[in-house]
Amino acid sequence: MQAVKQMTKISVNQREVILSAARAGNSGSSFPIYHLPITIYHQSSMRRAIYPGSFDPVTNGHLDIIQRGCKLFDEIVVAVLINPDKTAFFSIQERCEILTEVLKDIDRSDCRVTVESFAGLMVEYAAERNANAIVRGIRAISDYEYELQMALMNRRLQPRLETVFMMPAEEYSYVSSRLVKEVFHLGAPIKDLVPPLVEQRMKEKSSK
Ligand code: PNS
Repeated sequence: MQAVKQMTKISVNQREVILSAARAGNSGSSFPIYHLPITIYHQSSMRRAIYPGSFDPVTNGHLDIIQRGCKLFDEIVVAVLINPDKTAFFSIQERCEILTEVLKDIDRSDCRVTVESFAGLMVEYAAERNANAIVRGIRAISDYEYELQMALMNRRLQPRLETVFMMPAEEYSYVSSRLVKEVFHLGAPIKDLVPPLVEQRMKEKSSK
């Protein structure tokens, strides 16, 4: 990260010289230095990531990923997808409210964490927000296939954006919003899988 930050301080021409020198000096090496498109280095040293998802509801696994992401990025925008085709437990507004509240309790280091909702293509939203990266959590190999497909499609649509896969702590490797809702509706405890506020709001909502 430090190297990238330093890289952003030099001009495009200087970077070309450095890359050419590196290529020349590396001619006898056993590995090539690839000529990467210069656009991978964002002009600003501010690293902003989008963490998109449904967050219906936010789980401790999501919070674990955000906390880890805070070590890598200066800003993380938690972006809740507005998806009219999907029946959700919590409304968009409720999900954003809950996220904003529970994010106050995580270790954010110096990272600014905000919550927003978005509709439509995620890469378009990410470009509008001037993001450098998309963060996605991968719990198991089973997640990987779908996530890889999405990441590659997103890269095709917006080559400037990198997808960063992050692994949550092992204890959350089986936790998903879908399973949380399922066990909750069947009367099983969800303590330790979601923040206490989520459990409370789920109980309130389902008793109405
Ligand atoms: O928490 P989820 O439901 O796994 O998140 C999926 C999400 C929101 C990241 C994905 O469905 C998405 O980005 N949707 C926005 C529409 C879009 O950009 N589709 C193309 C994906 S390649």
